[in-house]
Amino acid sequence: MSKRVRDAWRSRIGVVLAAAGCAVGLGNFLRFPGVAARNGGGAFMIPYFIAFLFLALPLCWMEWTMGRYGGRFGHGSAPGVFDAVCGRRRPWLKYFGVLGITGALGIFFYYVYIESWTLAYSVFALTGRYAAIETPDRMGAFLGSFLSGSGDYFQSRRAAYGFFLVTFAANFWVVYHGISRGIERFCKIAMPLLFITAVVLMVRVFTLGTPVNPAWTLDRALGFLWNPDFTALKSGRVWLEAAGQVFFSTSVGIGVLLTYATYLKAHDDVLLPASSASFLNEFCEVVLGASIVVPAAFLFFGPHGTAQAVEGGTFGLAFRTTPLIFNHMAGGAWIGFAWFALLFTAGVTSSVSILQPSIAFLEEEFGFNRKRCVTVIGLVCFAVAHLAIFGDGVVDEMDFWFSSFGLPMFGLFEALVFVFCFGPERGWRELHAGSSLRLPTFFKPIVTYVTPLFLFTILAGWLATDGWQTIIMKKWADGRLVPLYTESQIPWVIATRLLYLALIALACLFIRRAWKNRPAPNA
Ligand code: ALA
Repeated sequence: MSKRVRDAWRSRIGVVLAAAGCAVGLGNFLRFPGVAARNGGGAFMIPYFIAFLFLALPLCWMEWTMGRYGGRFGHGSAPGVFDAVCGRRRPWLKYFGVLGITGALGIFFYYVYIESWTLAYSVFALTGRYAAIETPDRMGAFLGSFLSGSGDYFQSRRAAYGFFLVTFAANFWVVYHGISRGIERFCKIAMPLLFITAVVLMVRVFTLGTPVNPAWTLDRALGFLWNPDFTALKSGRVWLEAAGQVFFSTSVGIGVLLTYATYLKAHDDVLLPASSASFLNEFCEVVLGASIVVPAAFLFFGPHGTAQAVEGGTFGLAFRTTPLIFNHMAGGAWIGFAWFALLFTAGVTSSVSILQPSIAFLEEEFGFNRKRCVTVIGLVCFAVAHLAIFGDGVVDEMDFWFSSFGLPMFGLFEALVFVFCFGPERGWRELHAGSSLRLPTFFKPIVTYVTPLFLFTILAGWLATDGWQTIIMKKWADGRLVPLYTESQIPWVIATRLLYLALIALACLFIRRAWKNRPAPNA
């Protein structure tokens, strides 16, 4: 273990903004409104808030508490933190921490690529590159042409690749400067800008009137998203979608909050930053995220067009629908620029955070200096991101294994380590150490029993209903199993799965190597 002085957060507001920056991302502004509209509108908020209260919030407290504890022993990533929490009795538990490094890194491989599209579109908005396009289909063709480098709008992949390089370099530039001088300083500027831009865009949407059809009013636009369809609650998939959205959006189960908490001082409060960052994230998602893209789509395209846009998924809404909406508005170039710059900022504050666990792992467990860590992780990410850029179907496959599956899985490991190694009493005491806040005691059985059981049920439910089909690359459609991927996508998908397994195996070897000849843990 390295003996040098660890980096640390400089201010409480800096921690809260960095944690909120890690949580507030593309998930808040793009994924949430689409998922909510597709899954029962207002009724979706019932499973959503249940998942927030019983899963995300307790897991977030657990991550912060274990992270602060592990940081006392100089560990900055999940294997070391788990070892500090319970290594004396169960040294093998540090291997459970492997997903806290590989999961985060895995999300970065494709997240950075999508983030680069938002940067590209903010520039295209200003230069008027898509200003003449009038239909969602043509906008879709524009995106396809941009990504493939062929078609009517782009003749090579140079533009897409160039924006990827700039985005990639920006991320590593921030993390190279460390926690306090890099991530904290960046989030202190980026997060207020992001809030202001989101509020301005929301006000602009709310003051549009009825620009196309007098029947397409703001009331009906908000009703489109929020009118509850309670029959949706009978579907297990809706509950799963809610849990998945809450995990993705609050960034629990990635391992990042755990790592961020290791940079707190031994007696710093964890309840306040953990809870305020989570509620700030919810505000950005439920209030700001829900008030921009879907209502704006309704005002211009009406109920039918909006339903189609929502069915087109997250990317459909972002890159096919919103550019057209802004094209219709006065000052559309600037509004489009502000919207995509907002997405880009939200993306970068999240993606820099997901690099930190692997950087901390090399820095703390192998004593690498920051330059060496950034070089090694940068080379790995650069190489693998090309799989996401050039491979057909790779982004979806990575998103499933690293995010939809990986987050609840690692969340379950975290909850088990917390409950079995700290135990309910000590865990509750650790959680409150250094805090003037007291949680209502009904959260104690929630943290101890409900959260781990809830997570276990979600994963077991997935395994029982969809697990095998997903593994053999099939899905149910009209009562029969059909291929999940096209023939040409299958080799890419297999390569992605092999990479996922290889990454986990390699990280386990690194953990073994790092702990070889190490004195007994400090638990
Ligand atoms: N929490 C991040 C997001 O919402 C990953 O995009």
